[in-house]
Amino acid sequence: MRRVVCPGSFDPVTNGHLDIISRAAQLYDEVVVAVGGNPAKSTLFTPAERVDLIREATRKLDNVRVDQFSGLIVDFCRTNDISAIVKGLRAVTDFDYEMQMAQMNYSQAGVETLFMTTNPLYAFLSSSLVKEFCKFGGDVSGLVPPTVLDRLAGRLTQP
Ligand code: PNS
Repeated sequence: MRRVVCPGSFDPVTNGHLDIISRAAQLYDEVVVAVGGNPAKSTLFTPAERVDLIREATRKLDNVRVDQFSGLIVDFCRTNDISAIVKGLRAVTDFDYEMQMAQMNYSQAGVETLFMTTNPLYAFLSSSLVKEFCKFGGDVSGLVPPTVLDRLAGRLTQP
């Protein structure tokens, strides 16, 4: 079985992430969306909430499963029999860091990284900008799935 992982912090998942996940799901037998991140960094949603939001947004994709991980992504790959990481690349600004992580993961664990070019419709999109825009009353309805939109509004208007 050709199984790949789409890792990320997904705080929250955006239509840009979903574009990459659904395109990967057309190419591979199974796509595991792995929700991780830096525990020292504060997030708007808990890992369990982020997992639920992605599950809801991908429920029509039969070969996509969503999981949580901590520690190294290469260890998650080994445990789950995954040979490659799939990442979306938006612009050259993503490139340096993504390249560095890809080379580290390959050199230390033999795990490949495959880069998929982001749909130009979402080239500007990031979870951070969505949160900031929404916090100050901006309309992000075209940028995130409906369940995320509901949860964002509730969360960001709390005192
Ligand atoms: O959405 P993000 O913040 O770009 O996701 C980054 C993430 C979680 C995919 C990346 O930081 C990661 O893989 N973290 C797991 C820890 C790890 O393996 N670090 C070494 C990378 S070389």
